[in-house]
Amino acid sequence: MQEINSWNPDEYKKHTSFVSELALPVVDLLDPKRGERVLDLGCGDGTLALEIERRGAKVLGVDLSKEMVQKAKESGIEAMVATVTDLPFSDEFDAIFSNAMLHWVKQSDIALKNIAKALKSGGRFVAEFGGEGNAHHLVKAMELAFQKHPEFGEFVNPWYFPSPAEYKAKLESFGFRVEYIELIPRPTPMEDVGKWLEIFANGVTTHLSKEQFELFKDECIAYLKEHIYTQKDGWVIDYVRLRLKTTKK
Ligand code: BEZ
Repeated sequence: MQEINSWNPDEYKKHTSFVSELALPVVDLLDPKRGERVLDLGCGDGTLALEIERRGAKVLGVDLSKEMVQKAKESGIEAMVATVTDLPFSDEFDAIFSNAMLHWVKQSDIALKNIAKALKSGGRFVAEFGGEGNAHHLVKAMELAFQKHPEFGEFVNPWYFPSPAEYKAKLESFGFRVEYIELIPRPTPMEDVGKWLEIFANGVTTHLSKEQFELFKDECIAYLKEHIYTQKDGWVIDYVRLRLKTTKK
């Protein structure tokens, strides 16, 4: 069994470098300025924080995984273990950036309240994460595997994939002016969907034994072969991203 917040940074980087490569337009949207202090929520190994620093800002990275925080620190980024639902900051940052993390936070109201509190007035909040319809077939495959094997227990979906309308209303209710919000379909080729499940399904499979996890993977792969695999293109993950730029009023 694996701890939910325990990520293996080397495995993650080896199989998911596309996550930060595809996020460079989000760094462009952030448009970091020399001397700004930026909070990177869910900084992972610090790849995007380094890119933000390369553009002149100073970054504090936070992540729930101590292994990731250690990696970020080794790459020269100031980083600490923290969660967006318990952020110890008030009026401190010129901008807050987050990539591929907020869909892990079901308590989105608490997250937005803390983000607004951590920002200076006029500060920017720029993010991208899974939006409505994200990874639909992957989530369905997991749900069906649990249904077929009651011994796995109940399937508890830990992800939050909001629509632009829903999230815009939430942002406004926490005092943000929404300058841009868009749902972006992003079909993404993936060499090994089994690896994807090993890395990203940990939120729903931590309680399974090794044998049960292998069975879970086999069930998911059988379903996914029908839905996101073709001879021509191989595996293509049905990602849909919600990208946004806002300012704290
Ligand atoms: C993602 O879009 O990054 C994601 C989707 C489903 C589960 C976990 C992660």
